Amino acid sequence: MHKTKIRPAAYRPLQSQARATAPTRWPPRPLLLLFLFTAAVAAGATAATEKASGPPPSPTPWPERFHAVMFTNLTNYSVASTGPPLRITDLYYDWPRRRNLNLVRHQLSADPLYDVEWNNGTSFYFDSSTCRVERFPVGVLPPWWLSGGGAEYMGRGVTGGIECHVWGKAGFIVYYEEAGTGRPVRWNFIDVTGIEQFVMSFEPGVALEDDEQWQAPAHCFPDDDDEEEEQGEGNDHVASSSETAVWDGLEAASRILRKLAGAAATS
Ligand SMILES: *[C@@H]1O[C@H](CO)[C@@H](O)[C@H](O)[C@H]1NC(C)=O
Ligand SMILES: *[C@@H]1O[C@H](CO)[C@@H](O)[C@H](O)[C@H]1NC(C)=O
Ligand SMILES: *[C@@H]1O[C@H](CO)[C@@H](O)[C@H](O)[C@H]1NC(C)=O
Repeated sequence: MHKTKIRPAAYRPLQSQARATAPTRWPPRPLLLLFLFTAAVAAGATAATEKASGPPPSPTPWPERFHAVMFTNLTNYSVASTGPPLRITDLYYDWPRRRNLNLVRHQLSADPLYDVEWNNGTSFYFDSSTCRVERFPVGVLPPWWLSGGGAEYMGRGVTGGIECHVWGKAGFIVYYEEAGTGRPVRWNFIDVTGIEQFVMSFEPGVALEDDEQWQAPAHCFPDDDDEEEEQGEGNDHVASSSETAVWDGLEAASRILRKLAGAAATS
């Protein structure tokens, strides 16, 4: 009883103090945030208008050969795809030999998936037991696929803590390049699978010399291969559901890249 009497008494000053200070302490926070936000937007706008006075920066052409290790996330995985959403991809880009290889490792999977793309439009997707062959009307991406025209500058952006220039192209891709070095940092494919790739390492000039790694295995060339391949042009392959899961996202990415190659060829 005695305590309950004291408590309200002890609390009252605190409460009234809190009430007194509340109007001065709390509302300014949102106001301060709003102010900071407005200031940031204004600063951004200033930077943008300063930028607008000069020509927008141009993307750096890709080196003719490189090896990149990329972390891949199919961000719309649960709705759009059934395959494992997280992958590590080794990309070997080899323009002098007109070929491109993606070595894809799904999370906790022992069987890597290969995507070997040739300039005649043929792509082989295979692992140790399955294979799919796709034909595209265009070859591999040229080094100038982005720098050669058609890229829309979207401004500066920070991704993974790295200061970047950002471009979009043809509604297919958003591409981040390190502002200081021109190295590729990240790209997002505009696709229902929401594929995002983050460049973890980038080694210009490094090629995969081992031709066996590029060679599609025997199970890509069954005896009755010809008919199947020709039907494959419509992308209506017959595949088991587990196979479909594995190709999911990989094909989507490679199809977009081929489209970009097509766009580069005509620009
Ligand atoms: C992958 O993308 C999804 C959707 O944006 C996100 O929730 C998830 O955290 C990402 N995973 C990783 C490991 O980055
Ligand atoms: C394209 O080139 C690859 C590699 O040389 C070959 O395996 C494939 O059969 C060729 N495709 C066509 C349609 O000629
Ligand atoms: C995610 O996938 C669903 C189902 O395919 C699709 O309707 C939706 O547009 C996708 N979201 C994005 C951002 O592409």
